[in-house]
Amino acid sequence: MVRALVFDSGAGGLTIADALRRAAPDLTVDYAADAGFFPYGVKSDAELRDRLPDLCAGLCDIAHPDVLVIACNTASTLSLEDIRSRVSIPVVGTVPAIRPAALKTRSGVIGVLATPGTIRRPYLSDLETMFAAGKTVVRRGSAGLVDLAERAVRGQEIDPQAVAEEVVPLFAGPDGEKIDVVVLACTHFPLIRAEIAAACPPGVELIDSGDAVARQVLRLSPPRDPDASPSSAATAYVTGGIANLVAMQPALKRFGYERIEVVDL
Ligand code: DGL
Repeated sequence: MVRALVFDSGAGGLTIADALRRAAPDLTVDYAADAGFFPYGVKSDAELRDRLPDLCAGLCDIAHPDVLVIACNTASTLSLEDIRSRVSIPVVGTVPAIRPAALKTRSGVIGVLATPGTIRRPYLSDLETMFAAGKTVVRRGSAGLVDLAERAVRGQEIDPQAVAEEVVPLFAGPDGEKIDVVVLACTHFPLIRAEIAAACPPGVELIDSGDAVARQVLRLSPPRDPDASPSSAATAYVTGGIANLVAMQPALKRFGYERIEVVDL
């Protein structure tokens, strides 16, 4: 049985786990949420650099995956290479879908919604230089949207107006009114895709990285046995103690994780 371990700060990576399960129903997709250190988007680069490689190595020692998926743009755009050098299995990152957005835009203006951390990364500027030359990219960092998404997937009501207050400024700055494609560059945001779409002007298309990450995982995974029975045995791991397990349980159960364990990392 081939196992993937999908890792994020919280529940956002469940959108990637979901894409992966749809692409490969015979793969066992374990999940890890660093709930004890959530949210990543407002942490300093130094704090994340210090934590991520050892944490990922520790999670691999516990879950024994064949492939590790960093289902977090904030972590991937900072520490992907450090994590790769710390573990001995293939590591797939999640980075903003600038390339497909650049291919799709007709107006030539792309919006990017991400965490404040991802927005200030040189990695994002490099993606723009490589894949969106000649296009205009308008960025907006929002920690508020992460919080709203996390609350929504944990089963709490969220106010559509609060989502709109985070999204509308993207379209209010220079060139904002020309944006026709918005990159959801945080894995939490597809959890509230409908609310984000409702806050965008009509006709704006939302793009995320879920299917592209799933395809890359399948390219790098060892050969799978199509007859093996998959995610029934999947486990979710949560950091930060039992209180975080309890808080995340509704989200994890919603995505099919019945077996949930606290890890002390
Ligand atoms: N889900 C993460 C991402 O894709 C970040 C959320 C957080 O701020 O922890 O960037």
